[in-house]
Formats: sequence, structure tokens, C-alpha cells
Amino acid sequence: MSDQLVAGIDSSTQSCKVVVRDAETGALRRFGQAPHPDGTEVDPAAWWDALQAAVAAAGGLDDVAAVSVGGQQHGMVALDADGEVIRPALLWNDTRSADAAEDLIAELGGPGAWSGATGSVLVASLTVTKLRWLADHEPEHAARVSAVALPHDWLTWKLSGAQALDTLATDRSDASGTGYFDAAAGEYRRELLAMALRRDDADDVVLPRVLGPNQTAGIGDVSAGLGHLALGPGAGDNASAALGLGMRRGDVAISIGTSGVVSAVAPEPVDDPSGTVNGFADATGAFLPLAVTLNGSRVLDATATLLGVDHAGLAELALAGAPGAGGLTLVPYLEGERTPNLPRATGSLLGLSVAGMTRENLARAAVEGLLCGQADGLAAVEALGVPVERIQLIGGGARSTAVQQVAPAILGRPVHVPDPGEYVADGAARQAAWVLAATDEPPTWQTSRVRTVEAEATPEVRERYASRRELVAERD
Ligand code: XUL
Repeated sequence: MSDQLVAGIDSSTQSCKVVVRDAETGALRRFGQAPHPDGTEVDPAAWWDALQAAVAAAGGLDDVAAVSVGGQQHGMVALDADGEVIRPALLWNDTRSADAAEDLIAELGGPGAWSGATGSVLVASLTVTKLRWLADHEPEHAARVSAVALPHDWLTWKLSGAQALDTLATDRSDASGTGYFDAAAGEYRRELLAMALRRDDADDVVLPRVLGPNQTAGIGDVSAGLGHLALGPGAGDNASAALGLGMRRGDVAISIGTSGVVSAVAPEPVDDPSGTVNGFADATGAFLPLAVTLNGSRVLDATATLLGVDHAGLAELALAGAPGAGGLTLVPYLEGERTPNLPRATGSLLGLSVAGMTRENLARAAVEGLLCGQADGLAAVEALGVPVERIQLIGGGARSTAVQQVAPAILGRPVHVPDPGEYVADGAARQAAWVLAATDEPPTWQTSRVRTVEAEATPEVRERYASRRELVAERD
């Protein structure tokens, strides 16, 4: 397969990115990107427009043999019988279905019933809760639902020419984030879909076929000149990043993007009835237990805006602040929170004093608070017996020198920082190359350089964060 090119697409919350890579070596040939609209409710047409713009910016797909799409997880794309989108998609970070999550948990018999059935306890992020919200708030829309797709499934379908609904396809990693797929058994739980939609005829609702990790979803749209393209099954963005990083057992990624995600590769499924860890599948046939916060890089964005600096300025201030931020703690639930499950919470700044109330300490508290949330997620993943041997720090927020240097202090162990890269898009491209190769294992690609960052551990910062986090949880 020498000289063949493959493309990987990352349709994320904020933008669409496309990499074109050599199928055999993984060498980067071209890149393009285009922004997505803001908001937690988005018309999928905007993703399709951005995908086309990003593909054009990456020099098109004429010379590309295969493409896969990695996408933000969980977003509800509801389609009618003609394949038209019924209403704007509700995204993973839209918390309006928090009550629906509580109702569904009670109806099935508690949190453990859901983690046992699907691998995850419901929170507002999961697709099934959004379907219940639809049934309760827009019953006329719920009645018209003929198929439900996730962002990456829908975009793959659009690339194929969006023919019949039963040509929709997905993969285990994204299906496992719906709340109506049993990640351990690898099969849909249609009764949970019916329960959410409050419909007796939910068996007629089309769900995307769940493909194996290197199984093709078909070919590109012939009428659009894409008939030469093999379409990969695609993946949820976190599983795609794991594939892009070449993560193996013992590897953990902490990704600071719009969300903050701690994910680990595990050979066996996990079941965490506390709901802290989601038992998702990965994109290789294994599992990807992960803990997700709603508040990732936007904590840095918001603090930088407040302080009137850019990201480099924020990092400089944070590193000038002392460990412990002069007693300040930022509990950064700026957009509600998912882990812990406090969808209606707001952020809190605690421990203010005349001496401690400096710009440097506020910047430091933002970085520490963000990382304490990730440290909690890591502890929860490890407590399930998932091996944690190497931690890699990725995502836009990980480009901050302050995040890189404070992370080993908060986590109490070294972190490895790969070269900045588009790991979600890279994982999708690697999957596309795997589809072409039709081998048992994905192709081995050259890996990026990794720097190790160490620091003296500051357990007292985490302890204080933990006690203050509880105060906030009680209040909210
Ligand atoms: C994962 C999750 C987020 C989104 C962000 O459960 O909700 O990481 O996938 O794109």
C-alpha cells in the first residue's frame, strides 16, 4: 500500500480538523481546519459545512484512498423517515437533560442497573437522556424519530451520500456512549431506547450498524466524486485519540480540550456504579474507561479573559504564583459539572485573603483546580484496578507550560507530553490506514517525540481542593 494517502477527521466541539497522512508511515502530508458554531445545541449542517471547508483547506480528498471520522461523543442527531435532521443536535455538554437522567436512573432501578446494562451510569451527557428530554419537551419531534445517530456516524453517512437510513454505521467506542448499548457485550439494548423515547414502536427506530475496528462503512458518495474512498467505521474522539497516541495497556491520556478527560486502555470492561468512570469501549476491540469533566480548557480561557492576558500570559502568571496559590482554590464548575455529577453547579473561588488575592495566585488556582479535577478522575480509574503506568498529557489546554509543569505536582507522578498534535484526527487517519491494510493490528506509525516533566508532589493542594470541593457540592 505504499504511496497511498489516508485522511482522518476530527469533528470536535469547537472545530473540524483534517489530516492527510501517508498510509504506511503515517507521515503528515496536509492539514486543514474550519470552526464550528458556539453553543451546546448545533445544527449538524454546520458540521458538514465545516468538514467540507476543512477538507478543502487540506487539499481535498481526490488522491486519498480511505477516510475515517472521529467525533465529539454523545450528541443526539435525530433523523426523520426521509433522513432529515429533526432538530438541532444536543451536544455532550448540554445539561438540560439532567432531570431526564435522574428519571431514567430511577425507572431502571438505580445507578448500578445502568452501569450493569451499559457500562455507564447516566449523566446529562449521554444520548439516551437527550432522547428522554425530547420525548418530554418536544413530543412531536420524538414521535418523528426514525433513526438516531451520533455526530461521527452522521458525518460518515453524509460522506457516503446519505442514502437509506439502514446504511448508517458506527463503531463500538461511540455506540458505548449512547446509554443504549451494552459495551461489554457489544450489542444494543433497544428496550432502553424505547424507555427513553416513551415509544412502543421504538424497535422500528434505526440505529447505526456497529462495525468492527477496521471494518469498512462503505465507499464515498459516487455522485460527489468520492466513490474512490473507503470509509472507516470512525470512532468517538477519545477512542480516536487513544488510537492516534498508540495507547496500550497501562497508558493513560489526560486530555484538556473543551472537556477534561482521563482515559485508559483496559483489556476488560469496567462497571463503576458510582458513575465517576464511564465504561466505554475503545477503537481497537478493547475498552476505554474514562472520567470526564465538562470544564477543561475553558477554565483557562475564562481566567485569562478575567485577568486580561493571553494563554502565554496566564501560564506566566500561574508559574509566578506559589504552589497552593496563596490559599486560593478555584472549584471550576463554570459550565455545571459532570464528574462529579453537579449539572446545575457554578464555579467557586474560595480561600480569599488580602495577602493571597493576587493575579498570580488566581492564575495558579485556575490551573490547580483544573488539574485537581483530572487527578480525581485518575484516582477513580485506578481504583477500578485499571493499570496506570504512563500518563500522557494532550489537548489544547496541555499546550500551556503552566499545565505541563503543575500537572506532575498535582498528580504526584511524572507526566509525558507528546509534541502538540491533532491526536483525534491522527487516530482516525490510522484507522483509515487499518481499513486499507485489513490486518489484525493497526499499522505501526512513527510516533511523536515525548518530553517527560517531573515536579515535587503537592498533596496538600489536592487535599485542600477535596475538602473545598465537598463544600461546593453540598451547596449546589
Ligand atoms: C466523553 C465526552 C467528551 C466529548 C468531547 O464522554 O463527553 O469528551 O467526547 O468531545
